[in-house]
Amino acid sequence: MAVIWLPGLPDEENQMRYLPEIFANNRQWAETIQRERPGYLPGLDAPQSPRILWIGCSDSRVPANEICGLQPGEMFKHRNIANLVRPDDPNCLAVIQFAVHTLKVRHIVVCGHYRCGGVHAAMDAAGAGALDGWLSPVRALGEREAPTLSRLEDSDDRWNRLCELNVIEQVRQLAALPVISKAWDEGRQLSLHGWMYEFHTGLLHDLATSTSGPGEPLPA
Ligand code: CO
Repeated sequence: MAVIWLPGLPDEENQMRYLPEIFANNRQWAETIQRERPGYLPGLDAPQSPRILWIGCSDSRVPANEICGLQPGEMFKHRNIANLVRPDDPNCLAVIQFAVHTLKVRHIVVCGHYRCGGVHAAMDAAGAGALDGWLSPVRALGEREAPTLSRLEDSDDRWNRLCELNVIEQVRQLAALPVISKAWDEGRQLSLHGWMYEFHTGLLHDLATSTSGPGEPLPA
C-alpha cells in the first residue's frame, strides 16, 4: 500500500499531513480503469503520441482531459496562470518544442476561460510580486484594448472580453514563435486554435482564431 499513515498520530493529523483520501481515490480510479479497460494502463508504458498540445490556465476549475473527453495519453499539457505564451518563458518554449518536434502533435490549443482570476488581477494596478511580473503582458494588452473594452458597460463583460482577447493574443504569440515557423517550413500539418471554456455551462467555445500556416491571416 502506497499510503503513509503514522500509527502514533491522531487520524486528523495523519489526514492533514499525508492526504490519504487522495491515495484512496487513486486506488479506486486505477481499479475502475483496470476493470473497464483492461490493458489500457499497462499500454501507457509505450511512448506517448498525443495529437494535441493544450496550453491552458492553472485554474482548478478547468480539468482539461475531462472537458475534452480525452483519456491519459491523448493530450500533452502546459498550464500557467492566464494561459500565456511568453517568448521569454523557457518552460513554455521547451514544452512547445518537445510537443511539436518530438511528439509531432497536429494541434495546439490555447484554452482560456471566462472569469479568469489571472486576467482579473491584471486589470488591477500592478504590485511588486512574481505574479504581477508574470501578468505584465495581460496588463499591457488591457491597456492597448482599453478603448474597445471601455465601450462595454458591465465590468464583468469587460473582464470576460479581456479573457477572450488574451487568448487571441496568445495564439498570435504562438504563431510568431520560430519553433512553429520551423514546423510549417518543413511542411508539417500543425494547426493553432484559440478556445474559451465557460464554467456555468461546461462548454468550450472556439474563438475562430485557428491557423494552419504562416499564410493564413489571424483575425484582428
Ligand atoms: Co484562469
